Parts: sequence; C-alpha cells; structure tokens
Amino acid sequence: MTRSTGLVQLMILNIIIACLILKGASGFSFASVAHVVMNWTRGLTCYFQECCGGKWISSNLTALQVDLNRNIHGQELAIHLVMTALKSHQERSKKPLVMVFHGGVGTGKNYVADFIAKHMFHAGLSSEFLHKWLGYRHFLGSDENATEFKRKVQTWVYDALQRCDKQLFIIDEVDAIGDGVLDGLTPYMDFHEDIDGVSAIRSVFLFLTNAGSEDLIQIAEKNWESGHVRSNLKYHDFREALEVAAFNQEGGLKLSRVVKKALIDYHIPFIPLEKKHVKHCIEDEFQRRRINYSHEDVETILKRIGIIPSRSARFAQIGCKRVAIEVDIYLNEIEHEHDHDHGPEDILKDEL
Ligand SMILES: *[C@@H]1O[C@H](CO)[C@@H](O)[C@H](O)[C@H]1NC(C)=O
Ligand SMILES: *[C@@H]1O[C@H](CO)[C@@H](O)[C@H](O)[C@H]1NC(C)=O
Ligand SMILES: *[C@@H]1O[C@H](CO)[C@@H](O)[C@H](O)[C@H]1NC(C)=O
Repeated sequence: MTRSTGLVQLMILNIIIACLILKGASGFSFASVAHVVMNWTRGLTCYFQECCGGKWISSNLTALQVDLNRNIHGQELAIHLVMTALKSHQERSKKPLVMVFHGGVGTGKNYVADFIAKHMFHAGLSSEFLHKWLGYRHFLGSDENATEFKRKVQTWVYDALQRCDKQLFIIDEVDAIGDGVLDGLTPYMDFHEDIDGVSAIRSVFLFLTNAGSEDLIQIAEKNWESGHVRSNLKYHDFREALEVAAFNQEGGLKLSRVVKKALIDYHIPFIPLEKKHVKHCIEDEFQRRRINYSHEDVETILKRIGIIPSRSARFAQIGCKRVAIEVDIYLNEIEHEHDHDHGPEDILKDEL
C-alpha cells in the first residue's frame, strides 16, 4: 500500500465514522462534530505527510553527535562548536541560529551541514523544511541582478516561514554570491518575534564559504611549527581572522549587513585535513561499499590524491573531496585486471 492510497482510505473511513456519529448523536451540534473531524483528519494527514509539528520536527541531537563523531575526521573543534550552538539554540532561542562554516575544499563543511539536516527533521534530507541554495547555481549573474536576487531570496525565506517557523537554510558557495544579495535576509536573522506574521526564531541559517581558508592553513601551520598538536587549537585562535575574512573577502558576506549587524553567532573553522584524516575517509569509503581492503589499497589511493601539488606538504590540498571518485576508479581498475587474468578459453566461454 502506498502512502497516498493509505491516506485516501483512511480519509474515507474517517468520513464514514463522522457520518455515523452525526446520525447517532443528535444532541451534538454540527459545528462541534465538524471541528472534531477536522482535527482528526489533520492528525491523520500529519501521520503520513510532513507537518510543522509532532514527530516531524523533533531534532535528535544525540544521534547527530554520534553520526558526526563517526563520519567526520579531523574536525573535532568544528563538531564541538556546532553541537554547542545547536543545543543552546534548541534550549533557549531568542534569535535564529546563524553559523558560517569556513574551510577549504573537502574539509567536511557540506557533510556536516547534511548531517544537521538529517537529524533536524524526521524526514531528514527530503524534508520540505530544508532549503539548500548554491551560489553558482541560484545566484549566478552580474551586479545588475543583485537587487532581483535579494528580493528572490527574501521571498523564498518568507514563503518557507509561512509554512513552518522551524526551517534549515543552507547557503553554499557563499563566495559566489554578489554584494548585497544576502542583506535581504537580515530581518529574518535578527531578534524579531514577528515579521509580517512570520517568525524565524526557531530556524537555522548555515553559510558555507571558502573565505578564510588561507587563514586557517596559516594558523594550523603555525600551531604545528611551534610543536603543538591539532587539538591545541581553540575557537579564539580563529575567530577574529574568520570574522575579518568574511567581511573583507569576495562573496556574499563582503561588507554585508549580516556581518555589520553582528547577526552571525558562530564562525566555525574547518581546519585543513592531514594525511591521516584522508586515510580515514578512504577506509570509510571501502567500508561503506562493504569491500575488504588492504593497507596497500589505502596507500595507493592516498598517493593518487596527494599528487595534486600543495603549498603545504602537511595538509591535504583537497581534503577528502575526491576520495569517493578515486576509490571508484581504483576498484574499476582491479576489476579489469581480473578480467585480463582470464585465459582465452574463459573469454570464449563467456561469449558462448
Ligand atoms: C536519538 O538517537 C539516539 C542515538 O541514535 C537514540 O538512542 C535515541 O533513542 C533517539 N531519541 C529519540 C527521541 O528518538
Ligand atoms: C540578470 O539581469 C539581466 C538584465 O536585467 C537579465 O536579462 C537576466 O535574465 C538576469 N539574470 C538572471 C539569472 O536573473
Ligand atoms: C572479507 O573478509 C572476511 C573475513 O576475512 C571474509 O569472511 C569475507 O568473505 C570477505 N569478503 C569479501 C567480499 O571478500
């Protein structure tokens, strides 16, 4: 039985029961029965379809923590900050939670954002309350288009909030968004209980950007050179540099009112990954495919990913970005090698 046929059947059942009640209980007014039936139908609908309440909106932060610990490598500081932010926002929100994820390619910004979405809504990544906009896809245009984009993004957010006050807005590739476009969002990120009948206080805004990734490399490198381990790095080591980067570097946050009005609650640093972290990503990839692997398999793929020239030998230039693709290529090669292992008779047999 599919979801929609089940729904239709239940609605019909509902109406039949309602008619029986109407027939049997003449003491009840039509209005009160109609009210009961309406609530009832709504409850049934929300059993099958995503609604702004009940089980659909229950965030499970414990499950999020477990997933992040298991799947994200080398970003303990980012995980700690994200969890702290989400917890305190869930417990006492006076304003929407606004975070900027700073970091280079393949450091896990998108991955973390997706896990947040997965556990923020019962429907996870297919929730209607999740919105993901890409700078290069949704905001590509010249400066002339800025006003138009600004109005567009405002409408998107307003329409979403009308449906539910708990939404997750992920704005990726912020670097590609023109000046001023995001200014349209400032009212929704502030301490307003009510903006034209909607409220964003329970919502979360995530901006993902490369701005500041050079600073992250420098700070991490300096930390290493002075003989400290990665876990020595703390939020205050990065905060100022990232705030400055967000405000000054090309992209949607440059000189924006979002930054000027101090609406960003956290600048989350995604520190460049080291070799051992990329190794973990490769192992994960094999495990995800349930394929046995050897130490040599991992080293071979690691070497291939490491071929890309890097300014800093210590940090992986593109993090875990190409891991899945490289594992695919590698497995494909092994398969072909096995094909060549067949003798001519085998090939003949295969063809017959
Ligand atoms: C939240 O997730 C944890 C870990 O996966 C699980 O044990 C717990 O039952 C979940 N809680 C709710 C309310 O679903
Ligand atoms: C940008 O603006 C130009 C001129 O007003 C218009 O022709 C074009 O369609 C716009 N581009 C987008 C993506 O909206
Ligand atoms: C992987 O290794 C385990 C234990 O060594 C073995 O039981 C299993 O058959 C192997 N699977 C494959 C696909 O080779």
